[in-house]
Amino acid sequence: MSGLKNTERACEEQRVNAGGTLIAGPAAGALKGRVTVPGDKSMSHRAVMLASLADGTTEIHGFLPGEDNLATARMFVDMGVTIDWLNSEKTSLRVHGVGLHGLKQPSMMLDAGNSGTCVRLMTGVLAGQPFTTTMTGDASLCKRPMKRVADPARRMGAVIDGADGGNLLPITIKGGALEAIHYISEVASAQVKSCVLLAGLFADGETTVVEPRPTRDHTERMLPLFGQPVHVDEAGMIHLNPTGKLTAPEEPIHIPADPSSASFFAVAASLVPGSDITLERIGMNPLRNGWSRILSDMNGQMELQNEGAVGEEAVADIHVTYQQLAGINVNPVDVPDSIDEFPVLFAAASLADGEFLLSEAEELRVKESDRIAVMARALMAAGADVEERSDGVRIKGGVLKGGCRVDAEGDHRIAMAMAVAAQCSGAGITIENAAAIATSFPGFVVLAQKLGMNVRWDDG
Ligand code: S3P
Repeated sequence: MSGLKNTERACEEQRVNAGGTLIAGPAAGALKGRVTVPGDKSMSHRAVMLASLADGTTEIHGFLPGEDNLATARMFVDMGVTIDWLNSEKTSLRVHGVGLHGLKQPSMMLDAGNSGTCVRLMTGVLAGQPFTTTMTGDASLCKRPMKRVADPARRMGAVIDGADGGNLLPITIKGGALEAIHYISEVASAQVKSCVLLAGLFADGETTVVEPRPTRDHTERMLPLFGQPVHVDEAGMIHLNPTGKLTAPEEPIHIPADPSSASFFAVAASLVPGSDITLERIGMNPLRNGWSRILSDMNGQMELQNEGAVGEEAVADIHVTYQQLAGINVNPVDVPDSIDEFPVLFAAASLADGEFLLSEAEELRVKESDRIAVMARALMAAGADVEERSDGVRIKGGVLKGGCRVDAEGDHRIAMAMAVAAQCSGAGITIENAAAIATSFPGFVVLAQKLGMNVRWDDG
């Protein structure tokens, strides 16, 4: 209902560019209302990729106009794909696909900005091209490991060069004829799996992938919409037998609202006494909703309404009401399904009764920042009792004094998680280096204010 209006977003973006410091909390009262958060980031990347590689024209609605997704769209434009934006918010677009073999060598380096999903999935796409490309990214992305995708792409036949043996951006990919592989991934990563499956579209036989634990399956669900079957066997092994082409679907692709973005408001409503909010049309893919299982285990009160489906993905409205939370011992099986939501779950844990324990989550150290270290520092500065561990944290819940400045270190999810924590702090929290919120959740501040959160950009 209360989607973000253009003028509000433009205004917010201006403030982001001007500063990037958020002033947050404490909340003046309960959070109330209904909002629709923007479209799913993971699905938006995949939709624009598959549409670009398909024969024919694909219409996409509910696209996330975050900087990460716009970087992916721009890469395809740089390789000759035409994209018509159907509205000024850039949530609806028409992609004129060039077919699996129709991309053109770009005249410049491709820039993934802050987006790990963009660069890692594109490694699979570029491995299959009969030309050489170089991809780079911002300072954060240039520190993140690429070996995890370079290794399988090399095994399939691509030649990849870059700093640290091709582990660090910028990387140069010389693509070409690929061989199908059977890939046993060491890391539970949907980006790695998707890279291999996308490269598999260009390979000469059946590509299979085995993961240590199941991860988000949006690539597997979306490929069949483009006429490319994907089979998952009883053992969980993913099989892709390339048909040699993707075909634009006749019906538009509709992308549900992003559950990762919804989690910030769900936690905020769980923390602020008296709150009662509804988050509309949220993607309910079980491999994305570990956070809601964890929040429920912590005593969070969430009720699903209007359950349905959009394409191959389940959706529902989530009605959240305040309830005092309690710490839990997180089951490591839930880690991949909630990998992006731990910053905000740490914020919840710092205000919960008792102890919260997370282990086997070392992947958090190689996200947009080292999310274990950066969240521990920020929460401790606000007065929380946090013990940082190599693969997780122990947080003893209590009160947050606030009255401090913390550094989000350019990580969008740290900035939003601390804005949520600030709602229940004694004296509020100032969050520096928060501009990256625009990578995944343009309009976060405006929607947060609509719900009654106390958060604003520092205009100073
Ligand atoms: C994503 C996979 C996850 C997640 C990221 C989006 C995807 O990364 O953290 O935000 O869209 O495939 P990993 O594959 O590194 O776990």
